[in-house]
Amino acid sequence: MSREFPFPIPSGWFPVSASADIAPGEVRRLECFGRELVLFRTDAGVAQALDAYCPHLGAHLGVGGKVEGESIRCPFHGWRFDGTGSCVDVPYAKRIPPSARVKRYPTCERNSFVWAWHDPDERDPFFEIPSLPQVESPGWAETFRKTWRIRSQIQEMGENGADSAHFPVVHGSAAVPQAEVSNKGAHRRATQYTEVDTSKGRTQNTIEVNSFGLGFGYTHFTGIFETISLNCMAPIDSETSDLTVVFLQPRESKSRGVAKAICKDLEKQIAEDIPIWEHKRYHDAPVLCDGDGPIAEYRRWCIQFYPGHSGL
Ligand code: FES
Ligand SMILES: [Fe+2]
Repeated sequence: MSREFPFPIPSGWFPVSASADIAPGEVRRLECFGRELVLFRTDAGVAQALDAYCPHLGAHLGVGGKVEGESIRCPFHGWRFDGTGSCVDVPYAKRIPPSARVKRYPTCERNSFVWAWHDPDERDPFFEIPSLPQVESPGWAETFRKTWRIRSQIQEMGENGADSAHFPVVHGSAAVPQAEVSNKGAHRRATQYTEVDTSKGRTQNTIEVNSFGLGFGYTHFTGIFETISLNCMAPIDSETSDLTVVFLQPRESKSRGVAKAICKDLEKQIAEDIPIWEHKRYHDAPVLCDGDGPIAEYRRWCIQFYPGHSGL
């Protein structure tokens, strides 16, 4: 646990690789959830994530491990583990020790990322993240992708959207209008309606943020231009997180200029937030006032992702 933040790494689906960055037969060393993991893609194309250290004499499966069919072979003495983490072959022994297994992290692929399920209580996944049809659609194009490594926690970074009052001060923008918030289990939706004056008159715009646990959310902007931003966050350890943002826009978009400006503004906003995030500390009982935005509600929703809660 970090000095500034009192909770452990939460439960949920977290992005561990871009799907395109791991081809069949490839093996990667991963730092995630405060642990060392190995990520590999089997010959059949399934991405698997396991704890990295071989239960035999502790070699790192992500450094020299080799994919064989649907399994990975340890680089040290050649023990072989399947995607469930069970040892299925010891090349020089008559009997495989029953405890020869490594912890497995359930995986899925959605929206051009590989996601690994982390749960401090070792529960099975209790929610799913949706596949957005726009990611694969020929009518849509990816127009922006960037990853930041930030010394903060994903819950703290996620609070940004609920924190209306920081927008004018940190970002020089208008206070974010009150959102209509609804949540159902791990899914939280916050919708804001804004009006913008353009040369063609006043346009109504909607910003809908959908979060699925603390690791994945997407924002759908409609109105003057249409954009979807994927917001993917992974806890690297108790002090450090990776934030990856992807923008998708209609291929025929007439508002590329606006979209470019939004991407630029987003980069500026994150650059402005980072020094606050990296040096702030979490107050369990902050002094809040009216106009602060739905911070308490956001925090109540987050509680379900920590140990001791059913997750439902
Ligand atoms: S350390 Fe992995 S097989 Fe010996
Ligand atoms: Fe911010």
